[in-house]
Amino acid sequence: MPSRTISAARSAVCFAIGLFLLLSFPAIAQEGPGTLNLMPIPSKLSLTGGKLRLNENFAMGALGEAGPRSRKAAARFMDRLAGRTGIFFKQDYRTDFITSGNATFLFKYETAGRLELNENESYALTVSPDRIMIIARTDLGVLHGFETILQLLDADAQGHFIPCARLDDQPRFPWRGLLIDAGRHFMPVEVIKRNLDGMAAVKMNVLHWHLSEDQGFRVECRAFPLLHQLGSDGHYYTQDQIRDVIAYAADRGIRVMPEFDIPGHSTSWLVGYPELAGGPGPYRIERRWGVFDPVFNPTDEATYRFFDKFFEEMAPLFPDRYVHIGGDENNGKQWDANPKIQQFKKDHNLADNHALQAYFNGRILAILTRLGKKMVGWDEIFQPGLPKDIVIQSWRGKQALIDSAQKGYQGLLSNGYYIDLCQPASFHYLNDPLSADAPLEEQEQGLVLGGEATMWSELVTPETIDSRIWPRTAAIAERLWSSADVKDVEDMYRRLDSIAIRLEELGLTHFKNQEMLLRRLAGGADIGPLRTLVDVIEPLKQYRRQNQGVTYTQLSPLTRAVDAAAPESRSARIFRKMTDEFLQTRDPKTANALKTQLQLWRSNHRFLSPLLKTAPALAEIEPLSEDLYTVADLGIQALDAILARTTGDRTWVNESLGSLQQAKKPKAQAELALLPAIEKLVQATLSK
Ligand code: ACM
Repeated sequence: MPSRTISAARSAVCFAIGLFLLLSFPAIAQEGPGTLNLMPIPSKLSLTGGKLRLNENFAMGALGEAGPRSRKAAARFMDRLAGRTGIFFKQDYRTDFITSGNATFLFKYETAGRLELNENESYALTVSPDRIMIIARTDLGVLHGFETILQLLDADAQGHFIPCARLDDQPRFPWRGLLIDAGRHFMPVEVIKRNLDGMAAVKMNVLHWHLSEDQGFRVECRAFPLLHQLGSDGHYYTQDQIRDVIAYAADRGIRVMPEFDIPGHSTSWLVGYPELAGGPGPYRIERRWGVFDPVFNPTDEATYRFFDKFFEEMAPLFPDRYVHIGGDENNGKQWDANPKIQQFKKDHNLADNHALQAYFNGRILAILTRLGKKMVGWDEIFQPGLPKDIVIQSWRGKQALIDSAQKGYQGLLSNGYYIDLCQPASFHYLNDPLSADAPLEEQEQGLVLGGEATMWSELVTPETIDSRIWPRTAAIAERLWSSADVKDVEDMYRRLDSIAIRLEELGLTHFKNQEMLLRRLAGGADIGPLRTLVDVIEPLKQYRRQNQGVTYTQLSPLTRAVDAAAPESRSARIFRKMTDEFLQTRDPKTANALKTQLQLWRSNHRFLSPLLKTAPALAEIEPLSEDLYTVADLGIQALDAILARTTGDRTWVNESLGSLQQAKKPKAQAELALLPAIEKLVQATLSK
């Protein structure tokens, strides 16, 4: 008997079950520590009661054929299961793969999945007290099932177990991507690989590899070796490394789409090949961030001879059907200043630079089509008349996605998924590529393929990039996989906290590098008080961090307190939640917990001060540390006043709000994430 059902979907039958989901969801959230930590939430789940207990006899096997991808994934599954449980499994799961019904965990699939858009990724999973079974159309579904089992893994006093359950699961969108910008800051192969593992863990299936920028050209190119030799500072991927990454991704069911951003964002290409530019060189690798003038000359046939040969080399290196040509943020200044280009526009009736870029795109499209590739570009490339199998990636606004779908074009959403901007997971989570109010007919809705989180790398290095990607990208992964009505933010955060820890087993550094950065900053001193402060600050959001009088370039160190701070402070979020609870219930126990926390924060400055005087790179956070003292003190006073039920003191409230306004001013490119909660406490002293 199913004890409860999580379900959702578009069909009428599933709609009824979907309603049941909405009603039953909070019940799951209230179950306490033993509750499920699935992310993304599956399409349909019934907990059937009972537990499959894990012990050393647990063994994996397949029914029928099992190809190399599923067998390698099974071995990785067992590694992780052993690592997490500490159980010494008897099976030599690398060599003695069971291909009969005798294993505890059996999987079966019909055919090897192709790494193509719309391939079947569904799976059915049954856990009974003595058997786990995954049945899928393709091995891609089997891999997703492995991740689900690892998320279902739980423990109680008797040991580790998997709760008995029945699941039917499939993605809502076929394109669930993560963009990693290896152009602005180079990201070595191990960074890409560990993030591929993270993607697989949350069922994402496209790595969008941003490989060229003004600041770096990152691929070994044999036809035009000056691209990587002069355009990369020696930081590029060899072709062997690229093949290795693509194979690694394929083993995890992930497509790899390269992006070569043209005609703008292209300074690094022009360092070695200045004759292809729209304006006179010479060019140097750009160190600053922003939008720059260098651009390819779209009127010179040499440009197309170059791209013809270039893509001829890249097309087989990147086997995915899709190639992203960028197309964003061409400021057109070089084109305007070049009389020959102006004459070309007149001769060809090209009204403006947009039309000229459309001409360029058309020529590139012809090259890609000849090579059997489909074209993807940022929303600037959209213009009616392009073939209907191109894909528009919307970054400037959702409207571009709607416009292109209405005109019959496929699209991807990235607007609202810019994880480099340090916004909360909830913001990204509630950003639906196909919200209920989208003015799209059913057929147009089908053109929305999904979306991509975008990890632009102006302000990250290999040391910090994971902390900007994870865990928030798991919330985006859920938005792209799960039903539209799965949108309980509180429950998302509950599960995200658990997923964040589990992602660490894949080598991701989102937690551990924070301590490493703090140790470096503290130069050997105890980092406890420093961590307490950094735990409650967040980097300035959106583009504000770059507008604080500090000019960041590619050479700037990203090793300061603001870089160690998580994009979204978990401590502040929990404090905010407890504050809300207290203000609703006035429960003295919650008040006590809040007060203990506030006292800790208030005393922190005293302990941190000596370090701030001796570690020069930390001097800039002294005002933040002082603010933490002030703000915590105000919180305590407010709490005391609320508990004592004294009548509100308007003068005190106004003065306190003034102090909080002061504390709101950015310092060291960061802000105290506690301020909204303290403000609520202060305001609450006025109400009875
Ligand atoms: C972009 O963010 N310029 C695509």
